[in-house]
Amino acid sequence: MIEIKNLSKAYKKRKVLHHIDATISNPGIYAVLGPNGSGKTTLMKICMGLVLPDEGDVYIYRESVRASIQYRRMVSYLPQIARFPDNLKVKELLQLTEHLRGKAQRKEMLMELLDLDPYMDQLFRNLSGGTQQKVNLVTCLMYDVPLYLLDEPTAALDPVTQIRLKEFIQHERERGKMVVLTTHVPHLVQAIADEIFFLLYGDIYFHGSVEQLIGAYQANDVEEAIARLLMYEQEKVKI
Ligand SMILES: Nc1ncnc2c1ncn2[C@@H]1O[C@H](COP(=O)(O)OP(=O)(O)OP(=O)(O)O)[C@@H](O)[C@H]1O
Ligand SMILES: [Mg+2]
Repeated sequence: MIEIKNLSKAYKKRKVLHHIDATISNPGIYAVLGPNGSGKTTLMKICMGLVLPDEGDVYIYRESVRASIQYRRMVSYLPQIARFPDNLKVKELLQLTEHLRGKAQRKEMLMELLDLDPYMDQLFRNLSGGTQQKVNLVTCLMYDVPLYLLDEPTAALDPVTQIRLKEFIQHERERGKMVVLTTHVPHLVQAIADEIFFLLYGDIYFHGSVEQLIGAYQANDVEEAIARLLMYEQEKVKI
C-alpha cells in the first residue's frame, strides 16, 4: 500500500511535484506516465528515500519514508539508470547485491528468462546497453517482495525480452503483487496497466483506467490519448 500525502519537491526554483496526493491500495499494475522531466523518477526516488521531499510524505505499508527504513524490505526498486561498479563481472555484481541485501529467491529463473547466463563472466562495462538493463532487472526482480517500483523497465530491451518481461510482470500481479512502473511505451500501458497516473505541471493531471483515458480524449488507443492530452495542453498554453 502506498499513500502519497501533500507531496512537494522543487530543485532550486524548479517545482517538480506540487502538493500531490494519491493512494494505491490493491494489488495491480500502476503506470506513472508523463513527459520527460515531469517528475516520475523524482517521485520514485522519494518513495525509496533517495530524494527528500520539501513538504508532505509518502507512507508505504503505513510507514513514513522520511522516518523509517523498515519498509524497504518489502520493496524492490529498479532505477532508470543502472549505476553499478562497472569493473565487476555480472556474477560478481549479483553476488555483491546478495551480500548487501540477502539471498535472492529467484536469481536463476530470471537469468534464464532474460538470457543472461552467457554474460556471467563478462565485465558490466563491456555489456551492451540492453544487456546492462537486463542485469539491472535481475538485481531488482530476483527478490520476491510485495511491491515493485520499476523506473522504465523496458528501456533498451529488444522486443522478445520486452514480451517476456511484460508476461513476468503480469504473472506477479496474478500472485498478488503491486507493481508501479514508469514507461514511455504506450502499448505496454495499454496491455497491462490497471490504473494510470499522468503527471503534468507538477500535478497528477489524470488518474484513471486505460479505458477512461482513451474515453476522455476520444482516442482509439493510449498513444493517441496521450498525444491529444499533450496537444490540448500546448494549445491552452499558447492561448
Ligand atoms: N538532482 C537534481 N538536481 C536538479 N534538478 C533535478 C535533479 N533531479 C531531477 N531534476 C529535475 O527535475 C525534473 C524532473 O526530473 P525527473 O527525472 O523526475 O523526470 P522524469 O519524469 O523521470 O523524466 P524522464 O521521462 O526523462 O525520465 C527535471 O526538470 C530534472 O531536470
Ligand atoms: Mg525518469
